[in-house]
Amino acid sequence: MSIGIAGFGGYVPERVLTNAELEEMFDTSDEWIVQRTGIRERRIAAEEESTLDLAAHASLQALQHAGIGADDLDEIIVATDTPEVYTPDTAAFLQHRLGARTVPAYDLGGSGCSGFVQALDVARARATVEPKRILVVGVELISRLLSWDDRAVDVLFGDGAGAVVVDPEGSRATLIDVVAGTDGSQTDILTLGVGGTRRPFTLEVAQTGDHQRLVMEGHEVFKSAVRRMSAAVDELLGRIGCTIDDVAWLIPHQANARIIAAVGNRLKIPEERVYVNVDRYGNTGSASVPLALSEAVHGGEVTEGDLVVLVAFGAGFHWSAAALRF
Ligand SMILES: CC(C)(COP(=O)(O)OP(=O)(O)OC[C@H]1O[C@@H](n2cnc3c(N)ncnc32)[C@H](O)[C@@H]1OP(=O)(O)O)[C@@H](O)C(=O)NCCC(=O)NCCS
Repeated sequence: MSIGIAGFGGYVPERVLTNAELEEMFDTSDEWIVQRTGIRERRIAAEEESTLDLAAHASLQALQHAGIGADDLDEIIVATDTPEVYTPDTAAFLQHRLGARTVPAYDLGGSGCSGFVQALDVARARATVEPKRILVVGVELISRLLSWDDRAVDVLFGDGAGAVVVDPEGSRATLIDVVAGTDGSQTDILTLGVGGTRRPFTLEVAQTGDHQRLVMEGHEVFKSAVRRMSAAVDELLGRIGCTIDDVAWLIPHQANARIIAAVGNRLKIPEERVYVNVDRYGNTGSASVPLALSEAVHGGEVTEGDLVVLVAFGAGFHWSAAALRF
């Protein structure tokens, strides 16, 4: 079942952190980072900003774009792996900050960078069963969870937020279909394993610094990301009876320019139809797809009639792809 989308929003913090600044922090180089990742700079939240602030900025732009107020919302879903606090969820904070009615609000956490597209699928199902206006947010403030002494990981990430308003009467775009999947056989190769019941956050753990260490086997993650994202797009296009030639824009998760190029090559889509902003923002986790989508819409890149395909991949592993017609 397809459903309308009424508005798009995005937000990045003002502070730009360049590769040159990272060179001052640890043994790395602008050349290495650009060659291996395509990232030139990323945004870092100000000390006084938290996940909620980023989410609220993106939400307000999406609401304004939709031409509705927060009190028109019937539900709020936040996809994040870097929540405001451990409990309750970020969605509760956001409901209050926006001044929404006491509608259901909840987080989808732990899906890494795939969370937003999965949340979009949940919103589609919820709004189909019962007509509802649902705010769907992807937000990440990853910079605060990193130690800033691990060059292999810290150069990759940035902070940001993106949001859409799913609305059965929304006319800016139609969410046609979503596919999603999970393979939990490799939960240990992309993980921040401290803070749950398996390994609680204790003083002893704090002394190891593991609570700020994202464990990542780059090569394996790279290969799985390319394979799963390409397959998800193929499956999605098959389901909606389209081919890659029908796609005006592929908006992939912005983890790494080489992953994006490899997915584009596999799918045989010309690079000018693949949206890229990883050079400016790095990997913003579950914010990456909605942020790129909002930028493409507000920047006038996406125009009426366009078929836009979103695709994401993240820790878990989880993957998801969505088709939108503008
Ligand atoms: C992380 C990633 C960029 C590393 O690129 P790579 O080509 O695989 O590089 P390698 O890991 O083989 O490292 C090559 C060398 O660079 C070094 N290196 C790692 N990070 C570095 C940095 N920031 N600056 C300079 N050198 C670095 C390594 O120590 C290694 O040195 P060695 O050969 O002396 O051991 C790449 O694997 C990747 O993008 N993986 C996917 C990550 C991702 O997207 N995660 C999120 C998914 S949602």
